[in-house]
Amino acid sequence: MQVLHSIAELRAALAGQTGTALVPTMGNLHAGHVSLVELARQHGQPVVASIFVNPMQFGAGEDFERYPRTLDADCAKLKAAGCDLVFAPDVAEMYPVPQTFTVQPSASLTQDLDGAFRPGHFSGVATVVLKLFNLVQPRVAVFGKKDYQQLLVIRELVRQFNLPIEIVAGDTLREPDGLAMSSRNGYLDPSERMQAVRLHAELAAIQAAVQSGERDFSGLTATACRHLKMAGWRVDYVELRDVENLQLPVSESRHLVVLGAAWLGKTRLIDNLAFDLFVQD
Ligand code: PAJ
Repeated sequence: MQVLHSIAELRAALAGQTGTALVPTMGNLHAGHVSLVELARQHGQPVVASIFVNPMQFGAGEDFERYPRTLDADCAKLKAAGCDLVFAPDVAEMYPVPQTFTVQPSASLTQDLDGAFRPGHFSGVATVVLKLFNLVQPRVAVFGKKDYQQLLVIRELVRQFNLPIEIVAGDTLREPDGLAMSSRNGYLDPSERMQAVRLHAELAAIQAAVQSGERDFSGLTATACRHLKMAGWRVDYVELRDVENLQLPVSESRHLVVLGAAWLGKTRLIDNLAFDLFVQD
């Protein structure tokens, strides 16, 4: 497995490749990331993973500085997963001049949920992903459903800029208790870690209630928020949406997603569950 830090080396290594599968990451890899690499191997070759903690997608006061950087351990995991090439540029390589040309995703996709609580975040994500797509020129790129709003932003980026790239979505890998794997779980102290599963549990309770016929969506999400607050969380949102476009469900909506973001101490966790309105027999 090659580990490259410069754009020049990356372009030279990938010259002539037409079937590349790309897995963009910010490193500090866990089994969820590894599952995306394994999925990428089913869709293309060579498999390229990028590791870049992208300053443009972090807001003022967010965790850019303390975000864990663990390149050696990450490379060991990627090698074991069958990755062919790691691209790990530094900030000066990705942003040699101030990035004054940026991607501005449409408000309809980013004005609420995480977009509302992290202004500019999805512009930073879409801009760096477009740069990575231009550098690697993959045929396929793999993203996790864990960051569901991000996945829809990337799908729309590809559609509206006519990029010849297939977007493949990977399922969310979870710890045995249901907590979605996340690099940010490492910030949790032991008592927060025990508490952390509650976000998934509340989302799962909403899914179960809706699938057994409950239709008071705002009542369900309000109850979940109250439970989380009583347990000491600070809730950004718990929302039920149409899975296709993240708009409020309409009477025709059959496929929903329940999304939540909440803070335990200094750690912000997000999670979501997509499900059909009616349980299939
Ligand atoms: P990062 O948070 O490192 O996540 C990289 C990829 O792993 C994303 O597609 C994310 O959805 C996926 N992922 C995270 N947790 C997962 C889990 N438990 N199971 C399966 N997949 C999971 O998302 C980013 O980086 C950045 O925004 C990036 C797209 C790299 C742009 O900077």
